Amino acid sequence: MDSKTEASITIDVPITREDPDTLGKIVKVGLLANPRTLPSKLFYDERGSTLFEQICELPEYYQTRTEHQLLLTWADEIVALSGAEELVELGSGAATKTRVLLDAMAQADQLRYFVPFDVDEAIVRRVSEELVQEYPGLQIHGVAGDFLVHLEHIPEGGKRLVVILGGTIGNLPPIAAEDFLTAVNTEMASGDFFLLGVQLITSQKRLEAAYNDQKGITAKFNKNILRVLRNQLGAQCDSDNFEHVARYNSDSHRIEMWLRSCQDQTLDIPNLDLSIQLKKDEEIRTELSTKYDHPLAEDLLICAGFELVKWYTDPDQLISLALARKP
Ligand code: AVJ
Repeated sequence: MDSKTEASITIDVPITREDPDTLGKIVKVGLLANPRTLPSKLFYDERGSTLFEQICELPEYYQTRTEHQLLLTWADEIVALSGAEELVELGSGAATKTRVLLDAMAQADQLRYFVPFDVDEAIVRRVSEELVQEYPGLQIHGVAGDFLVHLEHIPEGGKRLVVILGGTIGNLPPIAAEDFLTAVNTEMASGDFFLLGVQLITSQKRLEAAYNDQKGITAKFNKNILRVLRNQLGAQCDSDNFEHVARYNSDSHRIEMWLRSCQDQTLDIPNLDLSIQLKKDEEIRTELSTKYDHPLAEDLLICAGFELVKWYTDPDQLISLALARKP
């Protein structure tokens, strides 16, 4: 790295330019669908991001520490294979695990640009301030946006390593996941590398425990979506009238999170001209968390235009990092 390069931060905030009606429309269509759904990106306001960070520390939530360990083991090799000078992370959140990759890039004298991309503007700003201190000379171009909409805001840089960690891809149903990765692939140059973290199919018991923690943090996280609905769309609803539900759907190999209505009640969103009668025990689906195996993940990558370079997994086969390349 050129030691004379000044460290710098630029933050692009396309999310604030998003048509305010768009979110409303998505929410309305979802709530009127069968089953009723809410978009998972709504979880991540400042409180939601903090709750998710707490989830990552829970004993039941094995995903984060397992992936972290995998990265510690393989980051040097991944960085060397990629030859990348720009790290782009889609869904970067607190970027805790990202530092393992940044360290490896710095070590290899390959670190120039970092692009943290997250839907929560506050966390993009916080992480950028932290990292510019931690990595002298690093140029940061943060994007606060929806990665399903604003991918073209990823700046041109050097040779890229694009990463999606934490099983974030699991939030998308199969067709949307393929479309999204195809769009990511389109943004990349031939020879750029892509690292996809996936959560693997494992026992129902272990999976359900990870989303039904003893301390009830996941329940708070789930109900936070109602708070965001109140704050951003003026919804009239009381979180206490809903119960957190998370269960494994083995046919679709995914955890589904739902909010179950504790009573007959009305969910009013006057801004959207919407008034929904919920019966007792009726459920609204708030999240999918799809689990993969090697063939499923490789298929997804190939359909999106990548070739699989290497498949890393932990001894218990809970998490994989799929290193891929755009041919
Ligand atoms: C951030 C989508 C990977 O699906 O495991 C954790 C979100 N939800 N606990 C996951 C989540 C409840 C998480 N992802």
